[in-house]
Amino acid sequence: MTEQDERAPFLYVVVCAAGIATDVGKLITAAQERQWRVGVIATPLAMNGFFDTAAVEAQTGRPIRSAWRRPGEPRPFPEPDAVVVAPATFNTVNKWAAGIADTLALGTLCEAYGLGVPIAALPCVADALAAHPAYQDSLIRLRGMGVRFGEPYSGEVGEGGGRPEFGWERALDLLDRS
Ligand SMILES: Cc1cc2nc3c(=O)[nH]c(=O)nc-3n(C[C@H](O)[C@H](O)[C@H](O)COP(=O)(O)O)c2cc1C
Repeated sequence: MTEQDERAPFLYVVVCAAGIATDVGKLITAAQERQWRVGVIATPLAMNGFFDTAAVEAQTGRPIRSAWRRPGEPRPFPEPDAVVVAPATFNTVNKWAAGIADTLALGTLCEAYGLGVPIAALPCVADALAAHPAYQDSLIRLRGMGVRFGEPYSGEVGEGGGRPEFGWERALDLLDRS
């Protein structure tokens, strides 16, 4: 669904370079079914083969943003009504918490706090990385900023040989929370 009411709320979906990003179309579909207009902002590494960029652009009806616009160029997306980061990598979570804004995705996340819009994050971080104290500190800091986190997801193969569902829609449920 790309032809949506121009008055519909606008959701930024920030996509990081995790393997699970290949399924980000599921989140976009679910968001559009809930009447969000969607604009995707990807980290530069995520643009490097982690998901089907052409399919996502067709789905949203908008170019994916990854690089900063040039001075004087108009903002390609409207201001966000809410922001989701899914999947959120170890790298981006830590840089976001530290206030580093050296990619458009990080700058967007850092700014979203000041805009006061709801922010939901679905990390996909291996247990071995999640054990790092810096990551735990980052989660505490971001939670303190009001960021709503989904349940931990390691992406690792379970006992049955398969990976558990990532639960993309959880991000949208978290935005609904008052
Ligand atoms: C195939 C592949 C899958 C990856 N999956 C993950 C992942 O699930 N979670 C994660 O935190 N990093 C993962 N990484 C490592 C990140 O891509 C790397 O830390 C990168 O710096 C993240 O950049 P970004 O946060 O700017 O997107 C993966 C790397 C590769 C090559």
